[in-house]
Amino acid sequence: MTTANSPAIEMRSIEKSFGTNPVLKNVDFSVTVGEVHALAGENGAGKSTLMKILQGVYQKDAGEILVSGQVTEIEDTFAARRAGIGMVFQEFSLIPSLTVAQNIFLTNRTWHI
Ligand SMILES: Nc1ncnc2c1ncn2[C@@H]1O[C@H](COP(=O)(O)OP(=O)(O)OP(=O)(O)O)[C@@H](O)[C@H]1O
Ligand SMILES: [Mg+2]
Repeated sequence: MTTANSPAIEMRSIEKSFGTNPVLKNVDFSVTVGEVHALAGENGAGKSTLMKILQGVYQKDAGEILVSGQVTEIEDTFAARRAGIGMVFQEFSLIPSLTVAQNIFLTNRTWHI
């Protein structure tokens, strides 16, 4: 069971290249229950790539992801959703006519806000 001090999400030794461009090299990222993190870095550092791997948009080349302490393969966005992982994308992916809450739950048809 996940407790207050155990990581909800752990990404270990994540590697990702696009063609010959090595974007993520041996990246570790861990989030404890209730924590809020800011992922900061220069343009092109790989922040979105790391989060897209967690969301199942991209596949990692190497490393592992643990959800509530269990090694979890996130092969697509549906698998991420099943694991309780959601993502709100950067501004160009948002719908200005919807509320913040509606944007957050845009892809979740079981929520009515
Ligand atoms: N689908 C893709 N195909 C090829 N290269 C990609 C792809 N997605 C990202 N990249 C490359 O990976 C690197 C990291 O990009 P990423 O978008 O993860 O950076 P970022 O840290 O989110 O940047 P920003 O601050 O601009 O949002 C960049 O060199 C980018 O060109
Ligand atoms: Mg980005």
